[in-house]
Amino acid sequence: MKTKVVADQHRKVVVVGAGSVGATYCYALAQSGLASEIVLIDRNDKLVKGQVLDLVHGQPFFPPVIIRSGTESDYADAQLVVITAGAAQKPGETRLQLLKKNADIVGGIAEAVSKQRCSGVMLIVSNPVDVLTYVALKRSGWARGRIIGSGTVLDSARFRHLLGQHCNVDVHNVHAYFLGEHGDSEFAAWSMTHVAGIPVGEYCKLCGNCPGWKEQRKAIEQQVRDSAAHIINSKGSTYFAVGLALVKITGSILRNQHSVLTVSTYLDGEYGIKDVCLSVPCVVSFRGIEKIIDTPLAPDELVSLLYSADILHHAIDSLTPEA
Ligand SMILES: NC(=O)c1ccc[n+]([C@@H]2O[C@H](COP(=O)([O-])OP(=O)(O)OC[C@H]3O[C@@H](n4cnc5c(N)ncnc54)[C@H](O)[C@@H]3O)[C@@H](O)[C@H]2O)c1
Repeated sequence: MKTKVVADQHRKVVVVGAGSVGATYCYALAQSGLASEIVLIDRNDKLVKGQVLDLVHGQPFFPPVIIRSGTESDYADAQLVVITAGAAQKPGETRLQLLKKNADIVGGIAEAVSKQRCSGVMLIVSNPVDVLTYVALKRSGWARGRIIGSGTVLDSARFRHLLGQHCNVDVHNVHAYFLGEHGDSEFAAWSMTHVAGIPVGEYCKLCGNCPGWKEQRKAIEQQVRDSAAHIINSKGSTYFAVGLALVKITGSILRNQHSVLTVSTYLDGEYGIKDVCLSVPCVVSFRGIEKIIDTPLAPDELVSLLYSADILHHAIDSLTPEA
């Protein structure tokens, strides 16, 4: 593997949106030592000032890093711009109205980043992440590899956690992916799932410890889909694990790590799908998406991926003025 570390020099990350996800990501990123400068931007000045002050007080405990608030001009020399800005659903507001509002927010930011002639990568986190990744791609005019959605990286982590618990093995020895829409139609790619390097079905036979594996498989898959709703019901929003998932993606970009991650990307014929962003396994480097791993899926998995694409096409169509 080629290792061109972006590196010793300036590693600037601009985070747009200083809410729960943006601030938690900044906190985890500062601890990771990956960035030399973290710039936080939010339309709520008071909030961004408070978040920055709280974070800089951690500097004696972080590896060296500059943390400050910023403006649009900061996009110009950023290696990575992470967009977590978004509006929350208001009472009486429909999902479509919220989608349109967030598309305007993220599309406007993507355009501003592009205007500053940033040569880095944009990472979209705001939901619905696949649709907003598509919007950012179109509004920025950038090549598709430079616009990444956090996609199902978080869902794949939840899946690995549950499988690790189920098999009673270290989560690091579980290789597993959730693909498709970051949302209700996402699905487990069981054909790619390995425990201790062994296909999960074979591992289960060796273990011989779990009767009714087919039902348990379904339950695990559903648990992953329901995770966000459970957390939101309990504490209002999710931010810790997504913050860490974003640090993982950031590391692969800033360290040119070529990690295989289920990020959301624009498909142009891969898996027989066109003109939509969704999650499939991708190699992520300092250039963004270096390669989309286009590999045969099990027939039922391909049906699920096409179904996700269909749902996302409809959501994208709903954004057009005549819809
Ligand atoms: N992709 C994932 O896996 C994942 C996981 C969790 C949350 N999310 C999404 O991340 C987003 C942020 O979540 P949160 O909990 O931090 O929300 P939040 O409401 O706490 O923060 C959003 C922030 O965006 C700011 N903002 C809105 N418009 C802006 C603009 N035009 N410019 C700059 N800042 C602007 C707001 O002032 C607010 O501080 C949501 O869309 C949420 O659904 C995604």
